[in-house]
Amino acid sequence: MYFQRQHERAFGTFPLKGDTLRNALTLALDVGYRAIDTAQMYQNEADIGPVLSSSGIARDELFITSKVPNNKFTEAEFSTSVKKSLQALQVDKLDVLLLHWPPADGGIEKPLELLLRAQQEGLCAHIGVSNFTAEMLQRTAKFTDTPIVTNQVEFHPLLNQDTLLKAAADTGIPLSSYCSVARGEIFKLPLFTELANNYNVTAAQIVLRWILQKGVSINTMSTKAENIRANFSLSHFSLSHVDMARIDKLTHTNYRIVDKHLVPWAPQWDS
Ligand SMILES: NC(=O)c1ccc[n+]([C@@H]2O[C@H](COP(=O)([O-])OP(=O)(O)OC[C@H]3O[C@@H](n4cnc5c(N)ncnc54)[C@H](OP(=O)(O)O)[C@@H]3O)[C@@H](O)[C@H]2O)c1
Repeated sequence: MYFQRQHERAFGTFPLKGDTLRNALTLALDVGYRAIDTAQMYQNEADIGPVLSSSGIARDELFITSKVPNNKFTEAEFSTSVKKSLQALQVDKLDVLLLHWPPADGGIEKPLELLLRAQQEGLCAHIGVSNFTAEMLQRTAKFTDTPIVTNQVEFHPLLNQDTLLKAAADTGIPLSSYCSVARGEIFKLPLFTELANNYNVTAAQIVLRWILQKGVSINTMSTKAENIRANFSLSHFSLSHVDMARIDKLTHTNYRIVDKHLVPWAPQWDS
């Protein structure tokens, strides 16, 4: 469901704000994006709301994801903070609400309970998690029978996420990507230029197609019309098994962008 409703790819909005965000989001909607990814932490929901409202696109065509930060995982603050997101985004309900990060102490059960309650209250249609480890996915699947529609994680060809992919398959909690082009790092690798020439697409399209063929839906952000267009246009080609395997080999690089040096409360990652 999530894979399809995200149309396999969503437009990410971090760290965009103000006019840069308005311009990029308008371009993304023009190109055809209908799935939008934001978070309370990005402090841009109030910029996104008016763009969506004035777009003329019917609410039920849009698929809006937002996230609750882990300093709001209390009885007193959780649902109030989600209601603020709704107000800023000018919608009655989110399509998906995620726990942005697991709590620093690893105690995921309480926030999962608050997330389920927000869904029961009608604040969101679907629920999910982000930055959960394989072990946390196993605990989540044991904790609730309610579908957890995604675990949004760093996912690109320079990072080995095999453990997480296996946990996703075992638990039925699918992955979605962030840092999909490793914030530009992938463009330094000649393999992607070679494959881009062979398939007559761009290097970014090769990377994003690899992610899709791994069974992972995509979040990408760009401020440039040509990149936004390219990132959305992934259906007209597919990578051969041989080329998938060539890209797979790069994952041993284990280059991770979002780690404890950026996010002190990041968990102990699987790889
Ligand atoms: N859950 C979480 O903890 C978490 C963490 C980080 C991000 N996210 C979400 O995931 C989204 C995407 O991740 P991200 O923005 O960090 O990483 P990303 O998509 O890997 O990188 C974005 C950067 O790549 C460039 N880029 C994008 N498409 C390109 C293309 N086709 N060709 C060349 N350059 C391209 C963009 O520059 P230009 O503007 O110049 O195109 C931008 O600077 C975020 O916006 C956010 O919504 C979630």
